[in-house]
Amino acid sequence: MKGTIVNCLGELVSSKFGKDKWEQALEIAGLNKNAMFMVFADIDDAQVMKVVQSVCKVLNITLEQAADAFGDYWVNVYSQKLYGHYYKKYTNAKDFLLSMDSVHEAMTKSMVNSAPPRFSYEIVNEKTIIINYKSKRNLIQFLVGLIKGVGNYYKENLRVKLLNNNRVEVVFP
Ligand code: HEM
Repeated sequence: MKGTIVNCLGELVSSKFGKDKWEQALEIAGLNKNAMFMVFADIDDAQVMKVVQSVCKVLNITLEQAADAFGDYWVNVYSQKLYGHYYKKYTNAKDFLLSMDSVHEAMTKSMVNSAPPRFSYEIVNEKTIIINYKSKRNLIQFLVGLIKGVGNYYKENLRVKLLNNNRVEVVFP
């Protein structure tokens, strides 16, 4: 996976919990404590998961809590710097989420070795959609955290429910 994800996680852990916690997590994951992750570098998926698990250990949090913290930070802080225009294009969480499949497809087209997640959508009714997640990585817990982050961005109280390992239900206010 692209280094940008680990880079974002590092920024989050260092700024909220201290650089030493991030360094500890890297060491537990078998990496050098000063390891740097370039945004376009390819990081082995298993290595990314190891770092995530180490962060959970060091901070004593569950994977779900880590995914929620990551999702909120990615949406509201990290991606705003480079990709803020994608969010400003829409006025509500639903329209933004419905654009995520084409955004991932388009933005990774020019990135060598990227394998973006793909989404398809079931419109259940005006307030409810189900997002189908297709990826070789099984990071659906992160998808849940990211959707919650999108709700925070648009100041909408979303109900986000993991239905199984490839479907998430989102109820809009
Ligand atoms: C405009 C903001 C966003 C940009 C620019 C972006 C871009 C990216 C990129 C470059 C990757 C790595 C792909 C790879 O290494 O092959 C990624 C991964 C991912 N993105 Fe986004 N993303 C954004 C917002 C979101 C949002 C809001 C969601 C959820 C609704 C989301 C869901 C995911 C997931 C779950 C992954 C993990 C990879 C996987 O599961 O296979 N992203 N994204």
